[in-house]
Amino acid sequence: MTQTFTSQFDQSMRDYYDQRSNEYDEWYLREGKFADRLDTDQWHAEVAQLRERVQHFGHGRLLEIAAGTGWWTQHLVRRANVIALDYAPSMLQQTRLRVQNQQMEVQCVRGDAYALPLATASVDGGFFGFWLSHVPLAQLPTFLAEVRRVVRSGGQVMIVDSAPSAIEQQPNVEYFHERILNDESRHQVLKIFHTPATLATTLTPLGKVLDTWTTGRFFCGALVEVR
Ligand SMILES: C[S@@+](CC[C@H](N)C(=O)[O-])C[C@H]1O[C@@H](n2cnc3c(N)ncnc32)[C@H](O)[C@@H]1O
Repeated sequence: MTQTFTSQFDQSMRDYYDQRSNEYDEWYLREGKFADRLDTDQWHAEVAQLRERVQHFGHGRLLEIAAGTGWWTQHLVRRANVIALDYAPSMLQQTRLRVQNQQMEVQCVRGDAYALPLATASVDGGFFGFWLSHVPLAQLPTFLAEVRRVVRSGGQVMIVDSAPSAIEQQPNVEYFHERILNDESRHQVLKIFHTPATLATTLTPLGKVLDTWTTGRFFCGALVEVR
């Protein structure tokens, strides 16, 4: 696999997600270490809003970048032929199992978001959930150029991600967070929070930003037409 972007830090984030795959959904479900977070009802209501958006998105051949455990893939496959790409083999295995359990099919591909293993203009659309917030600002041009290369002109890309939901979180700033897994191992992860406004600016190199939104407190999203 070709890899255009690596640093010690980037590799440690990749390793972190590979180790987190079987506990990742606890974040969405507010279970385990996330069980005592505040505003759980609001959280679940906003996850449901995202689900509603994702369920109505996509057609044809769709590339999902950094698909993780397939939390969103299971909705995308109802409308599109999904290629679920992730760097972490254990994440891809979770996606495979989730989709198989629902008697659906997905093509799982191990790959690097910064060097997508797909031909130019080979997909009709793209989706990435909670991935943009892990792309270092310096790597955005490389990543967005890759998305623009593989999605055909006129194709649409949907993004969903984290909004600043605490006073100390500023949008479009690189934060280095310590994350602790259930085995108590500690990892450094880059996180950038977005708002509809920062998404609109950040995603402009992809094409025409058709829509941006927030679910209220926790999440935001955007829809872009590639040009
Ligand atoms: C926060 S998770 C998001 C998972 C999923 N999209 C979701 O919304 O639930 C980030 C994902 O990015 C993947 N990842 C990290 N670095 C990557 C890279 N360079 N290329 C592709 N995937 C990567 C991780 O393995 C992990 O599954």
